[in-house]
Amino acid sequence: MSDQYAVIGNPIAHSKSPLIHKMFAEQTGQDLSYEAILAPPDGFAATVARLQKEGYKGCNVTVPFKFEAFRLCGKLTGRARAAQAVNTLRFDAAEILGDNTDGIGLVTDIEQNLGCRLMFGNALLMGAGGAAHGVIRHLFDAGASVVIANRTMEKAEQLAAEFAGCGTVTADSYEALAGRQFDMVINATSGGLSDALPPLPGGIFKPGALAYDMMYGKETPFMKFAREQGAAKISDGLGMLVEQAAEAFFLWRGVRPDTRRVLEQLRRET
Ligand code: ATR
Repeated sequence: MSDQYAVIGNPIAHSKSPLIHKMFAEQTGQDLSYEAILAPPDGFAATVARLQKEGYKGCNVTVPFKFEAFRLCGKLTGRARAAQAVNTLRFDAAEILGDNTDGIGLVTDIEQNLGCRLMFGNALLMGAGGAAHGVIRHLFDAGASVVIANRTMEKAEQLAAEFAGCGTVTADSYEALAGRQFDMVINATSGGLSDALPPLPGGIFKPGALAYDMMYGKETPFMKFAREQGAAKISDGLGMLVEQAAEAFFLWRGVRPDTRRVLEQLRRET
């Protein structure tokens, strides 16, 4: 029987992860299956226990279970510990290993697929929830300084305080951004889900700047705003999704898929 993997979330029907991992497996000749599993809000741990019992080798974890997944792991990678959230589980014989591949997925997409330099760049990170938490450390590691803006100011301050030792980071309200410019503006809010645009002032993009929305599947209000404001490069989060999946695939299989080909095919077909 093929090795079994899955992604657990709620909702999960929209997930492109099964398709991406199927493409990776075909491309690299790995014999595995990968399915999407909907877990009830209070049923994440039971779902993981069932998969372990049935001999699955690992799973991905998405909204809203990444923090619960973190608490379930017996062993964590450094980047999972930094994010305090887990999106990849590997079921080892003795314990569950937890990893977080979101941050490296974002940085790889920005640097390698979009050709933007993070080193010495100043980044505006919008949002201070799970998504922002998962990627901020990697922005520092890649050499960017970070301003966090969030609707609820205390949460931005908390996040900045938590990562103060890791790099140059400050927290600001959206109003306080007026008159400032950034090399890249990253939308890590969940506003796009409800077609909401964070209250950004105009003129926020430096010449040559990147506007990056971690959501994918449609043009978000933030991407539209960026186009109207003349951002030089605008991207949704499909590349991040593919790159974080590739890191999970590597953790499980020890093989690195060619993400560029998969991303090109997804952009053509979906
Ligand atoms: P996720 O795991 O997707 O990050 P989350 O932890 O609930 O989800 O965080 C959602 C983030 O999006 C928060 O930073 C939230 O701002 P608040 O902390 O003020 O709630 C932000 N957000 C959601 N809707 C938004 C909107 N319409 N405008 C601006 N920010 C929004």
